[in-house]
This record gives sequence, C-alpha cells and structure tokens, in this order.
Amino acid sequence: MSTNPSHPHATLVFLPSGRRGQFPHGMTLLDAARRLGEPIESTCGGHLLCGKCQVRIEAGDFPRFGIHSTPDHVTPPTDEEAAWLPSPTPYRLACNARIQGDLVVFVPEHARTHQQTIRKAAGDRAIQVIPTIRQVYVELTPPSLDDRLSDWERLAAGLAEQWGLEGLTISYPALLRLQDALRVGKWRATTIVWAESQVIGVRPGYQEGVWGLAVDVGSTTMAAYLCDLETGDLLASHAVMNPQVAYGEDLMSRISYATQNEDGVKKLLRAVTGAFNRLAGEVARKAGIRREDIHEAVVVGNTTMMALFLGLNPASLGEAPFTLANREAMDWPASTLKLRLHPAANVHILPAIAGHVGADNVAVLLAEEPETLDEPTLIIDVGTNAEIDLWDGQQLYAASSPTGPAFEGAQIAFGMRAAPGAIERVRIDRETLAVRYKVIGEERWSDQWTPDAPPAVAPSGVCGSGIIEAVAELFMAGVLLPDGRFNPDARSDRLRWEGKRGAFVLTRAEETAMG
Ligand code: FES
Repeated sequence: MSTNPSHPHATLVFLPSGRRGQFPHGMTLLDAARRLGEPIESTCGGHLLCGKCQVRIEAGDFPRFGIHSTPDHVTPPTDEEAAWLPSPTPYRLACNARIQGDLVVFVPEHARTHQQTIRKAAGDRAIQVIPTIRQVYVELTPPSLDDRLSDWERLAAGLAEQWGLEGLTISYPALLRLQDALRVGKWRATTIVWAESQVIGVRPGYQEGVWGLAVDVGSTTMAAYLCDLETGDLLASHAVMNPQVAYGEDLMSRISYATQNEDGVKKLLRAVTGAFNRLAGEVARKAGIRREDIHEAVVVGNTTMMALFLGLNPASLGEAPFTLANREAMDWPASTLKLRLHPAANVHILPAIAGHVGADNVAVLLAEEPETLDEPTLIIDVGTNAEIDLWDGQQLYAASSPTGPAFEGAQIAFGMRAAPGAIERVRIDRETLAVRYKVIGEERWSDQWTPDAPPAVAPSGVCGSGIIEAVAELFMAGVLLPDGRFNPDARSDRLRWEGKRGAFVLTRAEETAMG
C-alpha cells in the first residue's frame, strides 16, 4: 500500500493486460497508462472531448498484487466528465481521474485501442440435427357458446389431435402470450415445443424459424454460435473477453475473489450474465433475428465458470476434494438465469466429469467422439485452463490443468498477457550469460536498441511464450539445473540470491516501461 501521503506514489495494475507500475499521486490514469504502453482509446488526446478513455476502478483487496483498490483512490468525477457518462456508470474517464492511491484499473474492450484478437471460428462437421425444440403449427376451432374450452385446453387438444402430442404443459411466458397469439392469428398458431413435453412459445399464424444458441464460457474468452435448428446451419458467431478477467485471470484467483469479497459471487455472476446477453444480442443482430426468437441455448465451460454462470459459490472447487454442487446436466428457463433470450427459452448446461473437468470437456468429447476410433487418441484443449483426454482403445481418461494465465500472471512477478510490451522471445549467451530479448510491438531484438533508436514499446512484463523460452534458455545455459533450481555455481551479475531463492534478471529496471 502506498496511500500514505508521505509515500506519494501508488501502485497501478491495469487489467486484463496485467501491466503495472508505480506512479505519483496526481497523475492521470491516462498518463500512467501511456507510460506503461497500455492502449486506451483517447481520440481527443486527453482533453475531455471524446469520452472514449473509459476505465473501471476495481474495488476490493487484490492479494495477488498486494494492494487494496477502491474508487476513492482517484479524484472524484468533475461535472465535465459526468456529462460524458450515463448515470449511474461503472466507468471513469482515464484522462480526468487522478491517482490518489493504489489501484486496479480495468480497461473494457470498447476502450482498448489494440483490441485483443479473439478467434473462435467454428469448424464444419457432419452431425445429425436432433433439436430438443421444434415448431408445431396448429389450426383450432374458435370458441363459441357451445364450446367454452379455455385457450390452453383448446391448444393442448389441437396439439394432441393434430400432432399426437399428449400431456403437454405450458410455460408461464408462453401462457402470457397465448390469448393474444391465438386471436391475432385467427386461431392458427405456431407453437414451440420443448422436449416433447412443454409449450414454451406461441406465435400467431404460421411462422418459420427456430433458433438455438451455443455458448462457450471460457475463463478468458466467451464465444457464441447461433444456429438454425431445422437445418443445423451456423448463422452467426461472435466472441468477447470474459469480463470476469477483471476479478482474476486464472480460476483460483476468481474463486478467491468470489469467496473473499462481499457480493463476490454476485459481481462475477453479473459480469458473465451481461457478457452472455451482449453475445446473444450480437449474433442475433448478425443473423437478422431478435434475441427473443432464440428458444434454446446450450452453455459449456469449465466447472468454475459454470458455477459462476449459475451464481453458485465456487469455494468447494478451490480446495480438495474439489466437489461440485451438481455434476449432472441441467435445464433452466432463461428468465430464471436473467438471460435475455425468449423468457421461456431452455438453457441446457452439459454435465461435468469431475471437480475440474467440466462441461466444456464433455462438449469436446461429444464433438470428437474419440471412443468411436480404433487408434489410441489424445485430445488437448489448451485454453486458460487445459483439458486432456486420452482414449486408449478401451477406456477414456480425462484430466485438467491451469495453463495460460498460470504462466502469464499467477505467482509470476511481472507476468502478463501476450500484449504490446510483453517479452515473448529470450536468448541467453551460453558463455557470457548475456541476455537479449524481443518484446511484442517492437520488431528488433533488445541488443539492437540504442538511445537514439529506442524500442517502440519498452518491456513491461513477460508473457507465457517468453517464460517458456526463458526457462529453456536458462537450462541450456546451465543457469537452471535439471530439477528446476538455480545453479549456485553459475556466475552472472544477473543471477541474484535471497537466501536459497535465486532470481535471474531478464531486463534491468531502467530498460523497462516502469523504470
Ligand atoms: S481522452 Fe478524450 S475524453 Fe479522455
């Protein structure tokens, strides 16, 4: 902490990039971001004329960064700033908020100049289309003094007579629309029937089209695919960052946030629900339908993501024996989960396999069908968390492990994402142990930089590939021993010791963006 006025510098951490540095009180967040090479939109150059430099100050304890962040650690918004933002708003304008204490600052996707590239294209594969929902058209006899059946009795009888659908129930949202739909359609209606058991939608007259949404809630990225459930065609897809990244990049830090902060689970739930709704809106827009026309959704993710998607406390996933609230598949109405699809849309959650082998892995197995292959097969799904499945011809084995931010942030001093300023390549001279490296955003290696031709982006951290290269180079240069310890016989002023703990300096402070 450095909020004490006698220590007029504060620690800032920008998320999701992980860039961090020390800055004097009074400096604007935009200036601090620029010093770190953090790309924040600022079309007007910081003159409060564009409203684009929106950031969110995170509140709470962030043990990983060793700081406590609160919106009070920046100056309050001025009237000029307030005029740019809706009220209430979670955002501040970075060019107008001045540092007064330690801060974790989240830069939303819309305010990033170099938006992270998210590629989640769907591949084609042959499948049999057997949707859980189908549309069923019925023509009914209008009521009369001699025929006073209720609207639902009339519809249920029509569905039984014309389609053999017996014993159906009707969802509440469908009931709300029933009277109007039957009368507007002059007693002809198109119903949406779920699992041959419940009417979840009623539209007037004959209408075509039944759509389903598949959503992968990844730890870092969320991707949605809108499908025509009659043809199986993929109509639109879209991906966004999972906004929960602001609360912790890896699963364990998100579990910590959820369990150690008041309203932690609620905040994470709100973040993921909001992103889901934005994704649904975007794919619906691309396909030219309304999101209320989506009557079925399938959601997958690792077990922590699924717990947080359902608003469940993930505490038990943070420690052995890693028990789940429910391992089985689930079906919930969209309205129960506050998802903005058709309110009676069914949201299907695939089952999990074990504590940390979740619905996303089940989806991979359903798609790849390794058990149908004669050859032993290994399937590796590398994301922020990785799942590995081995089919040995008789038995299927599955396991999971943290990967991405486990390299890039958790427990790694100066770890960061693969963003401008991240060291991504490392070479260590086998004789002299001199280091040269390359950062994202600068073409030249560090040994080609000069005071007259400095790098376009100074290093501000090291990303996953940089860490892997550094470890490999240190090993090949004899600085690391085969068991992972630093070699006490290695001689370099870059190798520093604190008791028995060694550290190897990749780049000296004065070469970095933080100084
Ligand atoms: S940079 Fe334009 S308003 Fe902040």
